[in-house]
Amino acid sequence: MKYALLSGSSRHQSQSFKIASYIETEIKAGKNQTYMLNLADNPIPLWDEGVFGPDEKWQKIWGPISSELKSSDALVLVCPEWHGAVPAAVRNFLQIATHQELGHKPALIVTVSSSLGGAYPISELRMAGYKNNRICYIPEQLIIRNVGKTFNGPTMENDDDAYLRTRCTYALKVLDQYAKALKVVRESGVIDHKAYPNGM
Ligand SMILES: Cc1cc2nc3c(=O)[nH]c(=O)nc-3n(C[C@H](O)[C@H](O)[C@H](O)COP(=O)(O)O)c2cc1C
Repeated sequence: MKYALLSGSSRHQSQSFKIASYIETEIKAGKNQTYMLNLADNPIPLWDEGVFGPDEKWQKIWGPISSELKSSDALVLVCPEWHGAVPAAVRNFLQIATHQELGHKPALIVTVSSSLGGAYPISELRMAGYKNNRICYIPEQLIIRNVGKTFNGPTMENDDDAYLRTRCTYALKVLDQYAKALKVVRESGVIDHKAYPNGM
């Protein structure tokens, strides 16, 4: 299996990237391939019509990302809570990525908060941003609260840290099963994005 990971913070050395990197290491340990897309420094410009191509700027920036996503079987979407919401860079990604990259692929949502947040971006992602790209958010999810006190090196710092690491392993096992199951859906011949390019 190949897993794409999105680190949704545009900050340098973000906690989201720390979490995404931890998850990537765990996925790799299971002998899977990975592709990490880190939104630090906003590598993807804001959506414009050139994305429909042909457009040199978009081919250069989005082309390589698109190829990596197309060859992935599942996505881990690590999203910080900013102002009680999904950051603009993640929204932008979900509007640029189409069913070609993400359609009918399972995604594990992982939200990150330095305090007790993390629920708002989960509900926002589950409500909007999947209609046209047809990404499938699995029911299992991870909310990493007090992120500064978790996932720091090999030593567990507290009970929450221990629980979250175990829960992360469980969530990845569930995601793996969805990745296998949804491959069958994508290869079934039923999916018709020519007739129905956009969701209702
Ligand atoms: C612009 C901005 C807004 C934020 N708003 C919230 C918020 O509404 N709720 C929350 O729990 N944390 C908020 N935080 C703190 C983040 O939870 C914290 O930065 C955490 O480390 C995840 O973001 P990161 O991946 O960029 O590090 C905010 C951080 C920034 C930079």
